[in-house]
Amino acid sequence: RRVVVLISGNGSNLQALIDEQAHDRLGGDIVAVISNEPDAYGLHRAHEAGIEAVVLPHREYDSRDAYDGALIKVIERHEPDLIVLAGFMRILTPRFVQRFLGRMLNVHPSLLPAYQGLNTHARALADGVAEHGCSVHFVTEELDGGPVVLQAVVEVSEDETEESLKAKVHAREHLIYPIAVKWCLEGRLKFANGGATFDGVAL
Ligand code: GRF
Repeated sequence: RRVVVLISGNGSNLQALIDEQAHDRLGGDIVAVISNEPDAYGLHRAHEAGIEAVVLPHREYDSRDAYDGALIKVIERHEPDLIVLAGFMRILTPRFVQRFLGRMLNVHPSLLPAYQGLNTHARALADGVAEHGCSVHFVTEELDGGPVVLQAVVEVSEDETEESLKAKVHAREHLIYPIAVKWCLEGRLKFANGGATFDGVAL
């Protein structure tokens, strides 16, 4: 099974996937890493692992649609079974999402549906929540609104800061994202009729 990973930055989730692959535990191969940011650190991680790293800078395109069209072409050249968004900081056009519907996962740093969008840790802290976490979901046209397939919960401590909370959540992302990717590649997790199923059971 073939996986293409899209990144914009550090790529620590990409690293977690690379590490699983190195132990033959991913259930597939990351065949390419694509970044819209030329200096994304995750590109080094791909190089180090011997994975093709592609830079496709969005600034060189006039419109979101032109960029997504180019991105579709690059992705399809690699014939992926699954597209994994790992800190890819772009809003995707409906055309792009439709093209890969049911074959594209994202990880988001909140317990969705709570805290869609940006600054999730600061917003959760400001609300004084007792629990926070991260979610893996299928990507649909609704931003951070596709069906959730896996979540990890962390407790928010008394002296929590935005940084400490972010670190805790990030560590959980690294645990659950490779699992969700593996289940997808094995055909256990599926997208159907706008929802997700695990071993045929609706989630
Ligand atoms: C993560 O917090 C993820 O939830 C969000 O973007 C961040 C990516 O981090 N979608 P990294 O680049 O994988 O370190």
